[in-house]
Amino acid sequence: MKEQINQLMDVVAGFSAQTAEELEALRIRYLSKKGIISELFNDFRHVPNDQKRDIGQLLNALRDAAQEKYSYLRTEIEARNCVSEQSDMTRPADPVGLGTRHPLSLVQNEIISIFSRIGFTVAQGPEIEDDWHVFGALNFAPEHPARDMQDTFFIEKNPDILLRTHTSSVQTRIMTGQQPPIRVLCPGRVYRNEAISYRAHCFFHQVEGLYIDQEVSFADLKQALLYFAKEMFGEATRIRLRPSYFPFTEPSAEMDISCNLCAGKGCAFCKQTGWVEILGCGMVDPNVLEACGIDPQKFSGYAFGMGVERITNLKYQVKDLRLFSENDVRFLNQFQ
Ligand code: PHE
Repeated sequence: MKEQINQLMDVVAGFSAQTAEELEALRIRYLSKKGIISELFNDFRHVPNDQKRDIGQLLNALRDAAQEKYSYLRTEIEARNCVSEQSDMTRPADPVGLGTRHPLSLVQNEIISIFSRIGFTVAQGPEIEDDWHVFGALNFAPEHPARDMQDTFFIEKNPDILLRTHTSSVQTRIMTGQQPPIRVLCPGRVYRNEAISYRAHCFFHQVEGLYIDQEVSFADLKQALLYFAKEMFGEATRIRLRPSYFPFTEPSAEMDISCNLCAGKGCAFCKQTGWVEILGCGMVDPNVLEACGIDPQKFSGYAFGMGVERITNLKYQVKDLRLFSENDVRFLNQFQ
């Protein structure tokens, strides 16, 4: 009997079945109630007692092996049927949806790319800042309204820790960390305590620029900004600088571009003026250079700062700022 079992072991190891019918035949022949293995279990009664232990173990092993092989073949055949009978292999696959870049990223990257062509590199800094980097070093008087609770989100008072209200804080870090020539762009998210509406949000994005070297002049600033406006909004774009005030620049200006919707003729978008404001700029105040350890007798510089949302609105006519942070794919998918 021992020999018979061993032979059957080989037979079981060689089991093969291509179809469900072949497999069923195997099952009936070996594994059914009247199958060969059951018969062996019946004959087990006649095995002499001193061999029962050995033969019993062998017999169990044979049954387990046969069952295991049977299950394996069954899964294989089922899997094959599933593919051949239920799937249409010629059907096109489901399309894989490609994501799109966020419009603010697109525009920010474009601004960076334009200025990088005239030698600007990118610098980044923390969004949680102290008062000195955001205001103190930048010539804000202690009672300046921008420091007021209404504009700034404070995290801690005395010493003041706050969310930066502009990325000029990164420029402070650059100026205190290195000597001119300095030519950097500071893109990033900034926070201001404003009521959320279609035209204002409690956070937005800026790209600010800073250039410090010997004999940097207002004419250099104007040239760089004209170049930017033409690259960003088209060759026909004109710019206009209006005197303005920022604590950290002197003289300061606000820059308008000719309205790119009506080409300066006057429309609802530019409130019939033909011009739209896009950024603030000016010559770095000597007080700022001094506070940051740069000799204002030797060096001068210009700075500018713009809101990425504003530029994006102009480029793509997005009417409601809130769309930028709502993550609605129907909106985002339009920016391929
Ligand atoms: N920091 C200013 C703002 O946030 C923008 C600015 C930057 C103005 C540099 C002039 C020069 O409004």
